[in-house]
Amino acid sequence: MVGLKRRRRGRESSARGSADSGLVTTAPEIPADLGFIRLDVRTLRADAVTRFSLFLENEAGEHILYRGPDIVLKAQALEGLLANGVRFIGVPKSERRAYQRYVEENLASMCDDPAIPLETKCELVYEAANSATERIFVDELSPQAIQETTRTILRPMATVLAGNESAVTAYVSQLRAETNLWTHAVNGCLLGILMVRKLHGVLDPTRLVDLGAGLLLRDIALKDAPPDLLDPGHVPTPEQKALYAEHPLRALEILRHVPFSEEARAMIAQHHERPDGSGFPAGLSGRQFHRFGQIAAVVDSFVTIYARRASGERRAAFHSMRETLDALGGHAEPELVVNFVLLFAKENPMRRWTPTPRL
Ligand SMILES: [Fe+2]
Repeated sequence: MVGLKRRRRGRESSARGSADSGLVTTAPEIPADLGFIRLDVRTLRADAVTRFSLFLENEAGEHILYRGPDIVLKAQALEGLLANGVRFIGVPKSERRAYQRYVEENLASMCDDPAIPLETKCELVYEAANSATERIFVDELSPQAIQETTRTILRPMATVLAGNESAVTAYVSQLRAETNLWTHAVNGCLLGILMVRKLHGVLDPTRLVDLGAGLLLRDIALKDAPPDLLDPGHVPTPEQKALYAEHPLRALEILRHVPFSEEARAMIAQHHERPDGSGFPAGLSGRQFHRFGQIAAVVDSFVTIYARRASGERRAAFHSMRETLDALGGHAEPELVVNFVLLFAKENPMRRWTPTPRL
């Protein structure tokens, strides 16, 4: 999915002639409107099976079949592509699912590869997190499969974040405004672990995976709710209202076999609480409201509002931030709010905010 959101045709993306001589297959022309996912050749893994087709793009912007599906891509073939100046390659959008699984299965290897730029890694992580979380919310996965899926995604996400301060900016730039539950889950998870990294200096990937899993699965109790539940135009039935009011606690019940830390459990249970006691399900306030629960509440408020801005991606963050601050009504701890806002600032060495001492 590299380049999926910003697909463009340019000279650098063109296959220059017959790369990897002898391997390019002459194939029937593909309809121009088929649509391709454009990916960085360096993200392809040597000796991994590609269960999707690969197409080269020529100078005229036409796609030529390079490989059919279910072929082991050898290192020599990848080196041949790069040696011939081929930096990008296309996967038909109709084969998106197979490509998404490939990214999920190979994500750890991609994130460990120094040849892949940081921004590309963050994009791969975000897209893989979206597709994996969609399966968690849509398919009937066993509790064990849910745990394994979250670990597969969160471990590379945390490793990239732990090793590089620039990953904060790169991850934030990935946020997509969509109203489905899985993007809502991923956005909250990502911003939440960015917050704990920033506020508490948590860099240990194991801890980030624990907290990230709590955030990612905080709405798991809503998985069978109507898909438009988060849509501001949706009018919930009394049953849906009751489910919504209880969903943080139901999530804990569904995830009771997962050995979450106290902090991760607080993030699940308290992500709709408010510092003034006006939240739900428990109406917590003061010291009852766990610090990590407060972090979850701030990011959940933001991503809920952000999701309503399905257009104008760049402006959305700014306007959603203002609405979030209004929604929190000035009750959230200032240090939390200010550090959250700073996640969206451009990189600079003074990002950590220190409260002014009270005289
Ligand atoms: Fe929720």
